[in-house]
Amino acid sequence: MENKIIYYNTLDSTNVKARELGLEGAASGTVVVAKEQTAGRGRRGRSWESPAGENIYMSVLLRPEIEAQKAPMLTLVMAYSVAQVLREEGYHEAQIKWPNDIVIAGKKVCGILTEMEMNGFAIGHVVIGVGINGNREIFPEELSGKATSLFLEKGEKADCEELIKKVVEQFEKDYKRFLEAGNLSFLKEAYDQMLVNCDKEVRVLEPGNEYNAVALGITSEGELMVRKEDGSIENVFAGEVSVRGVLGYV
Ligand code: BTN
Repeated sequence: MENKIIYYNTLDSTNVKARELGLEGAASGTVVVAKEQTAGRGRRGRSWESPAGENIYMSVLLRPEIEAQKAPMLTLVMAYSVAQVLREEGYHEAQIKWPNDIVIAGKKVCGILTEMEMNGFAIGHVVIGVGINGNREIFPEELSGKATSLFLEKGEKADCEELIKKVVEQFEKDYKRFLEAGNLSFLKEAYDQMLVNCDKEVRVLEPGNEYNAVALGITSEGELMVRKEDGSIENVFAGEVSVRGVLGYV
């Protein structure tokens, strides 16, 4: 995988740009970075606030030769890579909220949005977008209870450019291991250790079905294993549901 990082001042969304580059034939491993996004995208059609200069907005374009149903696993690989880098950089409390958020002290510091383009029945390309709250000092009241930034957690400015390079490097290694293994068995144990929900009660929100359960860890396919109140074990698939703490976000 060749990692070419392309920097922009302003984009509508790095995911949109990476998709365009993907459709134009850009190489697997191309990384798009912007200082500001005017139409940053979050999961479930939400927007992602992307003010200039203070945060990380990046997207990685990939052309994995894997079955399309395995693509959601790439979100977990990226979450693992980001959490790993943050821990190495001194944010020791960084944890993963399955499947695609990184939290510090129970508040979200990073979100990941993976989007896939099909080419017939095969994957054309995958774009993994990563938004990290870097040096944001103030959050609007409705977010301040559940969002934080690296600056707020450490009390010193984060070097966003350096962090981008480190995430790209770490992801390159983890992505390679993922392609070799064909699943997440290689990181399952380390991932579970960083899983904020592990052994905690969570609320599983499936379309038309909500229940409380205890999160046990991930499977090698990236599903969240949970123990329901009747003692039965269920594997929850990332694409269909969201999971939150029984009392709030984590
Ligand atoms: C979420 O809802 O938690 C996912 C947020 C993903 C935001 C990032 S910022 C870089 C990339 N470009 C986008 O438009 N979204 C992702």
